[in-house]
Amino acid sequence: MKTALSTLLNIEFPVIMAPMFLVTNVEMMVAAGESGITGCIPALNYRTIEDLKVALREIKDRSKAPLGVNLIVNKSNIHWKKQLHQCLDSGVDYFLTSLGSPEEVIRESRKTGAKVFCDVVDVKYARKVEDLGADGVVAVNSGAGGHRGEIPATVLVPLLKSKCKIPVIAAGGVGTGSGILSMLALGADGVSIGSPYIPTHESGVNTEYKQACIQYGAEDIVATNKISGTPCTVINTPYMKKIGTDQNAVEVFLNHNRKLKKYAKMLTAYRGMKMLEKAAFSATYNTIWVAGSSIEFSHEMLSVKQVTEKLKTEFHEAHKALITTLG
Ligand SMILES: Cc1cc2nc3c(=O)[nH]c(=O)nc-3n(C[C@H](O)[C@H](O)[C@H](O)COP(=O)(O)O)c2cc1C
Repeated sequence: MKTALSTLLNIEFPVIMAPMFLVTNVEMMVAAGESGITGCIPALNYRTIEDLKVALREIKDRSKAPLGVNLIVNKSNIHWKKQLHQCLDSGVDYFLTSLGSPEEVIRESRKTGAKVFCDVVDVKYARKVEDLGADGVVAVNSGAGGHRGEIPATVLVPLLKSKCKIPVIAAGGVGTGSGILSMLALGADGVSIGSPYIPTHESGVNTEYKQACIQYGAEDIVATNKISGTPCTVINTPYMKKIGTDQNAVEVFLNHNRKLKKYAKMLTAYRGMKMLEKAAFSATYNTIWVAGSSIEFSHEMLSVKQVTEKLKTEFHEAHKALITTLG
């Protein structure tokens, strides 16, 4: 099967296992490659540049699949330039950038031939990154897990396809093979899938988090701005219900104060990361678990390879069924 994404990255099936803060690890990356797709890991999952270097070396040693790294390229990530250069030295095949401007990432990547895909949520930003020389856009729609966009996939994908010349990768809400097929039908050149890969044997988060992704469904997903100051999707656990999804009055005041908001945002993001880290790795009642509505289709703990195989099988079945329906 050939799409612009599978050709660009030389993968069998046009799917990126999406970067997930705290969740994606070396084991998942290796397994994703073995299953015919490509994995993308957030540089922020490593505290130091040395840790990042060691992880990238291990992935490269164990996998021939294209290696992707997610870089947050704004002020909230003070180490992004060092991460960028370490990734280039480690032979990363592509970057997926989020938040700030990808200009420097694109410029530096030209030197090694690494591709650059940029998260976008609207046409304006997509055009901007295309002009900067991005190799593709990741269309983050309103059904995505994590920091979602505001436009539904059925509008965003065809819109970006009509306004941009570079490949469009659909991200958000895809948890079935028919979902992949529908994104390709909308014009997408590939799909980025995150949440369905959380409840996998390889993922390093605690069993409670994985089980929650199996037991809860689409209607249990809510957006909170408590983690980073901007809406992020989480599972509506009893703890989430208790603390509520909105920032408290003091946080709102600080985040809107002209002089203090810069520091308030940094503090919110720092505290949010610590809360997520605690919830993902230790025994705690503070169950703040990031996930998107596509967990609806996760019914048991599987390996990364099994999740991909399931998606592939469903994709081919849905394709056949559609041809039959259309006659
Ligand atoms: C647990 C979790 C963590 C995420 N962390 C990141 C991240 O660190 N960087 C990023 O660019 N996107 C992050 N995302 C967004 C994903 O890369 C991707 O856009 C999203 O998962 C797609 O929606 P889906 O979960 O419905 O497949 C995260 C998503 C989830 C569910």
